[in-house]
Amino acid sequence: MPVEIENDSLCLSGETGTKLKTEIIERYYRFWLSVTTRGKGRFADYVYIIEMNAGTGQIKIEETGKIILGSAGHVLDLKYGPNRHLNKKLRVVLVEPHKDCRQSLQNVILNRWPEAQLHPYKQGWERSSDGSVSLLESSEYFLKHMNLTGLGNSLFFFDPLLAPDQSLVEKIASTRINTPFKIGTEFMIFFFTSDWVRGRTEFSALPKSKIETEWTLEEKESARTADRVFGNQNWVGIISNGRKQEEMERELVGLYKQSLRRWFRFVQPLPFVPKGGQRYDVFCCSNFDVGMTVINRIYGNLTWPFGLQGDIRKNRMAYTKFIQLHPELDEGLSATERPPEWKVLWYIMRNHIDGICDPQCKGEITKKLDSHTLNGVLTWLYEEGYIKQIGIESWPWVDSQQFPVFTIDWTTVKTRLDVDSPAPPRALEPGDLDKVRVQPQKEDEQEDEDQTSLTDFF
Ligand SMILES: C[S@@+](CC[C@H](N)C(=O)[O-])C[C@H]1O[C@@H](n2cnc3c(N)ncnc32)[C@H](O)[C@@H]1O
Repeated sequence: MPVEIENDSLCLSGETGTKLKTEIIERYYRFWLSVTTRGKGRFADYVYIIEMNAGTGQIKIEETGKIILGSAGHVLDLKYGPNRHLNKKLRVVLVEPHKDCRQSLQNVILNRWPEAQLHPYKQGWERSSDGSVSLLESSEYFLKHMNLTGLGNSLFFFDPLLAPDQSLVEKIASTRINTPFKIGTEFMIFFFTSDWVRGRTEFSALPKSKIETEWTLEEKESARTADRVFGNQNWVGIISNGRKQEEMERELVGLYKQSLRRWFRFVQPLPFVPKGGQRYDVFCCSNFDVGMTVINRIYGNLTWPFGLQGDIRKNRMAYTKFIQLHPELDEGLSATERPPEWKVLWYIMRNHIDGICDPQCKGEITKKLDSHTLNGVLTWLYEEGYIKQIGIESWPWVDSQQFPVFTIDWTTVKTRLDVDSPAPPRALEPGDLDKVRVQPQKEDEQEDEDQTSLTDFF
């Protein structure tokens, strides 16, 4: 499928696909930037947004003919647009292997942000005069020229057409996340989930038979791609005749998520449905629990509420049950005060992806507790059966001590407190757009003490 570019805009489809995805990414970039650039400026404190598939910076939405900024355009606008005071510390790295896309990206830069005009700098690398924006011709040049460990806080967006080059993902992850679940590196990874199951022009669906000799040449090719992306052949058991498309897609998403959980405690796939029968996911990966809480809220506010977002009024009922079971925790507290055991439990249930938590969590509740108290609270929750320890498959740090990572025991909290496990994120479908845009989500802010500092970003 040739790249379709019209007047420097990439032509892509989907009000509920590309447009929504770009909107969510822009909001998250803005949040991330405001958090990572807080504090006094120092040279060493540059932060990096790195787009591994930058496109042209501009997108034409096919259904409406509307021109919007693409993800790279948004980064440049954050750097050179009206809020630039926020962004002196932002450095932009754009990687775009497609020659026509690169040329259009340069044109868009010249038209919209002339200060960022690019000039040849080194082989395969163009740079703006102030050094803040780089455009590289390929991921090979990116790895050659950029000192991965020397970059400050970095957010990487892999946005290829089907699935990322997994060896590149692993290379960047293993170089930067070189101690267990180190923060300072976040990934967003585009994954065309339904293409594996349904195929598309020039890409065969994965073979539905387990017997390799029955595979066509095209299926073999797709199978090899899948082996590289998933890092194993477990997809073979997922894809088979007679299974529902949604079921296979859900399990493929689970499989890819599992491979990313080696590096990131928090991995949240956000689904998008650009048109009927198609689904893709953007995998948001972080070791910073707060960032993931925010991206979930951004997504939930632009699609459907999910997680425990719809269940906020359950807090009071659940707390009544909790304190009946543990009356000793209530001693000495006023009627409106809550013990830390409850606050932490509720916060994790409500905010943490997959209910995952550990002593390094920095959420609005957990960060108010010193590490001794937080450890004590987590131990208590563990001994009482509210959380359970999980193993990390193929722990990638050779000489490191594994530290405990916990997850909510949803069976226990359902039985004791009548709190259900969170609803998963739900994609907007093309026919849904009007319904959600006219009904912004309303929450009971009184009960939700963690909201206040984050609301600007939704
Ligand atoms: C969809 S573009 C994403 C652009 C950018 N991240 C954004 O959101 O504006 C993804 C990448 O796919 C590549 N590509 C290859 N074939 C393409 C096609 N037929 N249409 C669009 N992009 C294509 C482009 O080189 C580009 O780097």
